[in-house]
Amino acid sequence: MTDMLYDNPGLKFKNQDCIGESVWQSPSNIALVKYWGKKGFQIPSNPSISFSLSKSFTETRLSFQPAKGKDFNVKFSFNNNPQPDFEKKIISYFKSLTKIFPFIEQLDFDIQSKNTFPHSAGIASSASGMSALALTLCDIEQHCFNKQTRLDDFFQKASFIARLGSGSASRSVYGGWVAWGAIEGMESTSDLYGVPIKNYIHSDFLNYQDSILLVETGTKTVSSRIGHDLMNSNPFAKVRFSQAGQNAKRLVEVLKSGDIDEFIRITESEALSLHAMMMTSQPSFILIKPQTINIIDKIKAYRKETGVPVSFTLDAGPNVHLLYPKSVKDLVKEFINTDLMPHLSENGFIDDEIGAGPRKLI
Ligand code: PMV
Repeated sequence: MTDMLYDNPGLKFKNQDCIGESVWQSPSNIALVKYWGKKGFQIPSNPSISFSLSKSFTETRLSFQPAKGKDFNVKFSFNNNPQPDFEKKIISYFKSLTKIFPFIEQLDFDIQSKNTFPHSAGIASSASGMSALALTLCDIEQHCFNKQTRLDDFFQKASFIARLGSGSASRSVYGGWVAWGAIEGMESTSDLYGVPIKNYIHSDFLNYQDSILLVETGTKTVSSRIGHDLMNSNPFAKVRFSQAGQNAKRLVEVLKSGDIDEFIRITESEALSLHAMMMTSQPSFILIKPQTINIIDKIKAYRKETGVPVSFTLDAGPNVHLLYPKSVKDLVKEFINTDLMPHLSENGFIDDEIGAGPRKLI
């Protein structure tokens, strides 16, 4: 269950002096090479690559005190509203972590969380939420047990813990470009945790922009858990996993060389392949909407006409992430306002970009 890597049987509070809090902000991320399908417990069927966002993040305050009852307890509120259903999910997540963090069983938790972005906006709240939670737990371990962990090891463990809650969250504990899942020829990558892509990144890709075009902000009809599971019986799964592996390898090269045409080819193909997998699952499901397709058509036509290197990606929903280098921001703003606005919901779009990663507040 925990892959054994961080099992830590001795780590318990020795007295009742276990009161404190930890507050972290952690970003959402947008995957360019998509994780869709897993094997075993939270092991991806193919590697994925994302960048962390700057403005779209979760802030989580985790307060803890000695457990009053026999079992630990969790109170969870989102935007100051208690969330009993989500409390149950966190309790089972925490239970799955007691081999790694035995001190969990000694505590009661009060967790307060809020997001800087609206619900169901096509921004992965599980990535920011679970990574923020994982960081607070690793923080308790670090500070209450005086562990002198190196920063790199701290974040690697946080990524490992975040992955057990939500796969894409493993990539959110770092800023910039992040890979999760073993990529052929890249020794540092792993199925167990995300790694920042640290080798030279071309200047065009250092400050990449993501304008999230909101087509519809209703709730998703199919959870990503069900979507991943359906890949087990998808007839195209094997080809898809191999395609994603090759795309991940190629994208790392492209980030270095600055080949923006190849970047566009890979990322748009990834977005459409993700949705093709949904459409070819049994039962099938379609998350894109007519306006999603209208926007994609407009993006392609605008690029062809003007040569401005805009491209799109999609997450598991109808909203379109418009991607472009910062150097063309003014032109793209005009394009959004004149050509794309008529296709968007009343919520318009969220202007985001590559961010620097999580921040500890307390
Ligand atoms: O982390 P999960 O289980 O919510 O899955 C995320 C799947 C996608 O967002 C569609 C793709 C990705 O790699 O983030």
